Amino acid sequence: MNLLEKIREQAKAINQRIVLPEGTEERTIQAADQVINEGIARIILLGSREDIMKEAKKHNLKHIEQASIVDPNQHDKIDHYIHMMVELRKHKGLTRDEASQLIRDPLYLGTLMIKNGDADGEVAGARNATGDVLRPGFQYVKTLPGITVVSGAFIMIMKDKEFGNDGIMIFADCAVHPDPTESELAEIAVATAKTTKAIAGFEPRIAMLSFSTKGSAKHEMVDKVINATRIAKEMAPDLKIDGELQADAAIIESIGRNKAPGSEIAGNANVLIFPSLDTGNIAYKLVQRLAYAEAVGPVLQGMAAPINDLSRGCSVSDIVNLIAITANQAGNK
Ligand code: ACO
Repeated sequence: MNLLEKIREQAKAINQRIVLPEGTEERTIQAADQVINEGIARIILLGSREDIMKEAKKHNLKHIEQASIVDPNQHDKIDHYIHMMVELRKHKGLTRDEASQLIRDPLYLGTLMIKNGDADGEVAGARNATGDVLRPGFQYVKTLPGITVVSGAFIMIMKDKEFGNDGIMIFADCAVHPDPTESELAEIAVATAKTTKAIAGFEPRIAMLSFSTKGSAKHEMVDKVINATRIAKEMAPDLKIDGELQADAAIIESIGRNKAPGSEIAGNANVLIFPSLDTGNIAYKLVQRLAYAEAVGPVLQGMAAPINDLSRGCSVSDIVNLIAITANQAGNK
């Protein structure tokens, strides 16, 4: 059984409630039908029942009837959610009128359902941009205790089994936080370790990447990675982590031995933490395209409940996979 099959099987056992705010979107409805059919999760679709059933009929989908369908214009808990929004955002001056408008947006409604315990996780982004999917989560679901920053990890499934854990590596942050401070970078490492254990199912060996290995270059950007490594160790003393390391020293045994002798990570890292979103996003896309790796994610981490963002170019099977991952995160919460 490969990793994605395993993730789907694990999701079946925990039967979480996943809300899909883009409930009238074509690929989302097809994915929902497959998820229900395979028993991967319970599905809540947001949108008009009429529009959803019309789309289901067009694709001859037989299982959508079993989804909970919630119309954002008619939900019986709307008043309660508006009250929660005003309470949670009164320090930002949110008025009742503004909240009444916002809650009609399915991306806000999905988030409030999670906050109120009416759903366990959310997947969106087939139709909406990353910022629009994440902002309601940042504002209402917020981050886990001890974590201030949400980040995005990719599970990189390489053709070459020589690297990482039998060809699987975790890269972060590749999706969310453009320029982390040293303590935010440490949080990203700690959150990625949790994602690695919970979703990929192996023990993380984390390399904090830089253009320098163990003092080979001096620069404030190098200092940031050195300090982040120290802070991450303070946050999680059992973490297997080392830095600063260049990418080759992190993943090639002979180079690791040579450039960072004595390091238990150099040469055999299975988790790569990038110093900025620029580097992480560029690196995952290059590995995906040049090395034909499968890039699964981004798996968003650090949020108090899982909200995951799709690429707008996603396929039905990408959505099914991300629902299964989200269910696993919800079950591990
Ligand atoms: N973690 C936790 N909270 C956050 C984060 C974060 N990473 N970023 C912003 N917030 C919070 C802020 O604290 C603020 O909270 P508040 O309203 O309670 O004070 C709220 O979210 C809004 O903050 P803004 O700074 O206004 O954030 P904005 O909404 O403008 O931007 C966004 C957030 C959209 C995620 C931005 O950081 C961004 O554009 N990141 C890049 C996303 C991207 O394009 N990724 C690459 C493509 S994805 C891919 O290729 C797979």
